[in-house]
Amino acid sequence: PAPGWSIDADVVVVGSGVAGLTTALRCAAAGLATVVVTKARLDDGSTRWAQGGVAAALGEGDTPEQHLDDTLVAGAGLCDEAAVRTLVTEGPDAVRRLIGIGAHFDTTDDGDIALTREGGHHRRRIAHAGGDATGAEISRALVEAVRSAALHTVENALVLDLLTDAEGRTAGVTLHVMGEGQHDGVGAVHAPAVVLATGGMGQVFSATTNPPVSTGDGVALALRAGAEVADLEFVQFHPSVLFLGAGSEGQQPLVSEAVRGEGAHLVDAHGTRFMVGQHELAELAPRDIVAKAIIRQMQLHGTEHMYLDARHFGAEMWEQRFPTILAACRAHGIDPVTEPVPIAPAAHHASGGIRTDLRGRTTVPGLYACGEVACTGVHGANRLASNSLLEGLVFAERIAADIVADRPRAGAEAVVTHPVASPLLAPEARGTIQRIMTRGAGVLRSADSLATAAEELEDLHRSAALKAGAAEPKLAVPGVEAWEVTNLLLVSRVLVAAARSREETRGCHWREDRPERDDESWRRHIVVRLTPDRQ
Ligand code: SIN
Repeated sequence: PAPGWSIDADVVVVGSGVAGLTTALRCAAAGLATVVVTKARLDDGSTRWAQGGVAAALGEGDTPEQHLDDTLVAGAGLCDEAAVRTLVTEGPDAVRRLIGIGAHFDTTDDGDIALTREGGHHRRRIAHAGGDATGAEISRALVEAVRSAALHTVENALVLDLLTDAEGRTAGVTLHVMGEGQHDGVGAVHAPAVVLATGGMGQVFSATTNPPVSTGDGVALALRAGAEVADLEFVQFHPSVLFLGAGSEGQQPLVSEAVRGEGAHLVDAHGTRFMVGQHELAELAPRDIVAKAIIRQMQLHGTEHMYLDARHFGAEMWEQRFPTILAACRAHGIDPVTEPVPIAPAAHHASGGIRTDLRGRTTVPGLYACGEVACTGVHGANRLASNSLLEGLVFAERIAADIVADRPRAGAEAVVTHPVASPLLAPEARGTIQRIMTRGAGVLRSADSLATAAEELEDLHRSAALKAGAAEPKLAVPGVEAWEVTNLLLVSRVLVAAARSREETRGCHWREDRPERDDESWRRHIVVRLTPDRQ
């Protein structure tokens, strides 16, 4: 659709989590005309929901080198070591700068930052806030800073497509905005630098820890614009998500790994700990190992969940250290102080995304990606717990520095929308996509399950394309829900294609028909770039 209004800026940041707001604050502080656009309200993304915290070598005796080692092991041979080194060496100062902006982390009696443990970390290295409300505190501090800096923000703005100039350089984005006064309807922000910080794509699956806004919009935009994406098959399933009953759909409450970091046990229905003896870190093994062990137990016992037992914490510790989780459990009729908590794995984090270099640059000039939407190489085949808020902080600073130092320029030619478009789907297809993906490309995958998923997704795509081609009267009405579902379908198709290609088991990609890791053939990335005839 043709834009009905426009804004001119030096930089447009799309998304308002830790990655987006940190980038925007840095760009604005350097004097760039910066606009932040975000799909819902400023604090509606995934950052607010983060519990465990931010990993950084801040503790006595800890070093970036040890953090690097743990990250590489979790990443199962596919991390980019230079990217991880950047993350872990620049991480501690990035956390200190966040504190400088106004984020309050929990402290010890001596006034040091309190640190906990999570899966895959050999040391206490996770800084947290409000006990288990780390993301909420970070979001609060950043939103307040953005408001005091009087940054230009546009809320309720779904990003649609990239604008490019005649040479294919970034020239801005188109947006669909709902009910924001002068910026209502479809419009555009013209800017030679676009930073995508749109978060993840957990809504591709039926049950996820991600909020409803995590629909893969940034990756879909990048694919339509011809940018490279990588590692999409590596979807991390968080091992301990509150089990709300068979068939529960949408966002599910997380039970932070920090609960295990403080000594909770994973047990079966008889109270037997099943991680002991499976890995030297037992319940704190890397996330893929714990998720798989839980699924195996569920298969063995024919049940839909296992349990997390932390009754030994006692009421006071639960109330002080994990107030958010305690409240969520009690809201669902479970009291962790007196009973084990039913948990099961659910989709949590996209380790892959839009491929970037160490300055956050994508393969399209002037287009940057930051945070969960990006594939910087720090996560490899399985993200280490609590490295994602850190990734957002560290790479946001790098992107802002790059834009300031080397200001991208759009040409003077008329701006054109990228010619490739996905056929619009009706919003009702959302549940269908989620069920297809959960059945075929969830925590357990096989050649057969993936082939079925691919076929079902292609059917959906074909029928939307046919309707669009025939200008059928029943065409989906353009609107946020329809565009979200269209994005979900595009990223699902690419994810399934990547998962079919990777004929091995590695990190969080678990192929039942190929149970071994195959370094000889598969210690490499699957990189996808769509061309117009492959839509
Ligand atoms: C958690 O608190 O368990 C989630 C932390 C993360 O995903 O990094």
